[in-house]
Amino acid sequence: MKQFVFFILIWGYLVNCTVNGLQFTDCGSKTGKFTSVYVSDCDTTKHECILKRDSNVTIIIDFTLAENVNAVKTVVHGKVMGVEMPFNLQNPDACIGSGLICPLSKTEIYVYTAVLPVLKAYPKVNVIVKWELKDEHDEDIVCVEIPAKIQ
Ligand SMILES: *[C@@H]1O[C@H](CO)[C@@H](O)[C@H](O)[C@H]1NC(C)=O
Repeated sequence: MKQFVFFILIWGYLVNCTVNGLQFTDCGSKTGKFTSVYVSDCDTTKHECILKRDSNVTIIIDFTLAENVNAVKTVVHGKVMGVEMPFNLQNPDACIGSGLICPLSKTEIYVYTAVLPVLKAYPKVNVIVKWELKDEHDEDIVCVEIPAKIQ
């Protein structure tokens, strides 16, 4: 009986974690949609990903397209207390070095990989990382919001 109660408690805890765990929110994907998002060293049972300063974080987004696309551009913003600030990326062209071979076709599932440098100079704040992949018409193929905390 004791064991049973213990089991129920553990099970309840696990279910609770899954329900309350990390949510990657769609912030307006239009010409495509993401099927999965991975952030390196992120504990998905927590409410946010911890981004360690002076480190490189790898982001992997699997997505599909509703239309064929010729060009893909990465646009990243950090939202701190409602204010959006641009993150400067060394290489905003997602057709180069991110695992995508452009043009992209709507029949396939694509895996996009990028590195987000978390600089030593960043303040320790809660931030919503808004990650967009834009097509040649400046429409969002993917828009995903990743709740995070810089530490
Ligand atoms: C992050 O990656 C860049 C490019 O590969 C490298 O120059 C830099 O040293 C890395 N930073 C850290 C903190 O590992």
